[in-house]
Amino acid sequence: MTLSKELLENTIKPHGGELVNRQVEGTRKEQLISQAQTFPALTLNPWSLSDLELIAIGGFSPLTGFMGEDDYTNVVENLHLANGLVWSIPITLPVTEAEADAFEIGQQIALYGEDNHLYGVLTLEEKYTYDKENEAQKVYGTTEVAHPGVQKVFEKGNVYLAGPIELVDRPKHDEFVDFHLDPSETRQLFADLGWKTVVGFQTRNPVHRAHEYIQKAALESVDGLLLNPLVGETKSDDIPADVRMESYQVILKHYYPAERNRLVIYPAAMRYAGPREAILHATVRKNYGCTHFIVGRDHAGVGDYYGTYDAQELIAQYEDELGIQIFKFEHAFYCTKCDNMATAKTCPHDQSYHVHLSGTKVREKLRNGEQLPKEFSRPEVADVLIKGLQETKA
Ligand code: ADX
Repeated sequence: MTLSKELLENTIKPHGGELVNRQVEGTRKEQLISQAQTFPALTLNPWSLSDLELIAIGGFSPLTGFMGEDDYTNVVENLHLANGLVWSIPITLPVTEAEADAFEIGQQIALYGEDNHLYGVLTLEEKYTYDKENEAQKVYGTTEVAHPGVQKVFEKGNVYLAGPIELVDRPKHDEFVDFHLDPSETRQLFADLGWKTVVGFQTRNPVHRAHEYIQKAALESVDGLLLNPLVGETKSDDIPADVRMESYQVILKHYYPAERNRLVIYPAAMRYAGPREAILHATVRKNYGCTHFIVGRDHAGVGDYYGTYDAQELIAQYEDELGIQIFKFEHAFYCTKCDNMATAKTCPHDQSYHVHLSGTKVREKLRNGEQLPKEFSRPEVADVLIKGLQETKA
């Protein structure tokens, strides 16, 4: 059964009310492919290509293109689009000044990937310069280039191109083909499964016991879990997406009821913008049709840039406007005295009973082929990670 547009948007409305679709098909597609040969060309890096894709498939609804200056300024300064809708992270297309000079307002620009494949077309409405220090400070809360998101801000071109886009061809994600669904498809899937309430889970890490604990705590209250790992660009010491995807399948198979979970990729780049990115993550999952979203400890954080619960505090201020319900969880751990997963809300024992491993320690152990404590990771997951990381190293 294919649902009507109305029904697809029935459970939870997309952000701004309508699911955007900027993918072109049929004659329009053929026409654009042939015209694109005469358009000026721009090569997108993987980050911009993933933004292009997310705009086109409706993940970034209501955006229909890269942000113009009004939206950009409002988002950076006030966490809202110019039309008043809450939005936390600028979605922009940076180019160098030399590249910008070569394009004229009103022109169509052919957008290629680094593989020289034509992915889309931008109709150029604006080009504008921006203040990098200000963007870094407001969006990431710091101007330190040691922050991986801030480093990107300072590396990118000085001019933003803006205007509506059309997607001519999809980035393929061939390795994840079984888990590659657009927001319109996940909405259909949830309807087919009869899920009225769905919790979305963002992650850029393997699912360890703490993740499992908060997901299952949420699952006690909703119909289904959308495990929606980010598979776009991450920092180089994060565990590669293909290894993680294998580990997700293993943990879901062994420890989750099959009829209550689905694994779907989120093809975005990771910004590490902590609180602001938590809001973006929730907004996108709303577009995918989730009614609930999990924000745990230091969501989308990196290093010590954000306080443990900064993301929860910021998103709480915008929760009503966002319209997706946020499940907030405290730092979860295994307590050897409780003999259970717990948080400070449920465990009275001191930290000496709590099993804790830093991300760095985990990666070090895995790369050395060492098993992780079963209180920290399911052994099946650790096995996949050990194998995957040793293959990556080889
Ligand atoms: S990230 O995308 O937010 O950077 P990560 O995998 O670290 O990915 O976390 C996924 C989600 O789980 C986030 O909401 C995060 O806050 C939450 N989380 C991670 N570890 C814990 C933990 N030990 N206790 C509670 N929440 C956690």
